[in-house]
Amino acid sequence: MNGRERRLRRIFKRETERSLVIAVDHGMALGPMTGIVDLGKTVGDLDATGKVDAWLITKGMYTYSFAPAGDPGVILRASGGATIAGPELTREGLTSSVEEALQLGVDAVATSAFLNSPYEHETLVNMAQLATECRRWDVPLLGVMGLGKTNEEKKKDPRFMALGARVGAEHGADIIKTYYTETDFDKVVAGCPVPVMIAGGPRCDTDLDTLRMIHGALQAGARGIVMGRNVWQSAHPAALLAAVHGLIHANLSVNEAAELLEHERQR
Ligand code: 5RP
Repeated sequence: MNGRERRLRRIFKRETERSLVIAVDHGMALGPMTGIVDLGKTVGDLDATGKVDAWLITKGMYTYSFAPAGDPGVILRASGGATIAGPELTREGLTSSVEEALQLGVDAVATSAFLNSPYEHETLVNMAQLATECRRWDVPLLGVMGLGKTNEEKKKDPRFMALGARVGAEHGADIIKTYYTETDFDKVVAGCPVPVMIAGGPRCDTDLDTLRMIHGALQAGARGIVMGRNVWQSAHPAALLAAVHGLIHANLSVNEAAELLEHERQR
């Protein structure tokens, strides 16, 4: 056991080696979105379900809007510096450090790299440099693999997403967050030596679509989710969370998870 393993245990459940991480770091670029306007309430409501293993959050919101009753893991978003009001969303720099992460008492840090964007080089170098700092202190690094803005087709291309996942691991990430490709996601996982988790991306049309996507990713070898909008913008976030938890930690089928969702909605 070392510090890195100890911290990873705060994120991945030992029994399943999977994790259900809720991302609430969107406000740093997108402002107060529906579902996280009152982030303290969102965190409180979802934490109360006991289903969230860890949160992905910025230092500002962690400091002022994060007071769960439980003791979930925390991944500190350590990159940012670009908003929808600015010229280029992919121009992220490091906004925190491992030293600050240790001072805040979080379990891991995260930084984005944007492949096929004008800032591919800078964001990958940021990732590699943060990885060096992480290794020094045994703090796990989540590599958030993003894309340039005109890349909607590439997001669905397993060869391109496999490139992103592998590149993130090669630059030192201990966990990769990427987008789910409906076909050949097992190839994305196969080429990456560290756990692969999926983000939601733009919202799914229905909760059932969210369940199908997560189930497909798990079947292909994903180790869980780092997901935001599909959960906290759902009409029934707590019920959906129960169903997602069932998929991730109890190996439910999509039908079983959908039944659980319905049952929880009617409680
Ligand atoms: C926002 C992010 C999010 O963490 C990530 O995209 C996951 O959230 P969602 O499931 O809503 O896409 O990187 O800056």
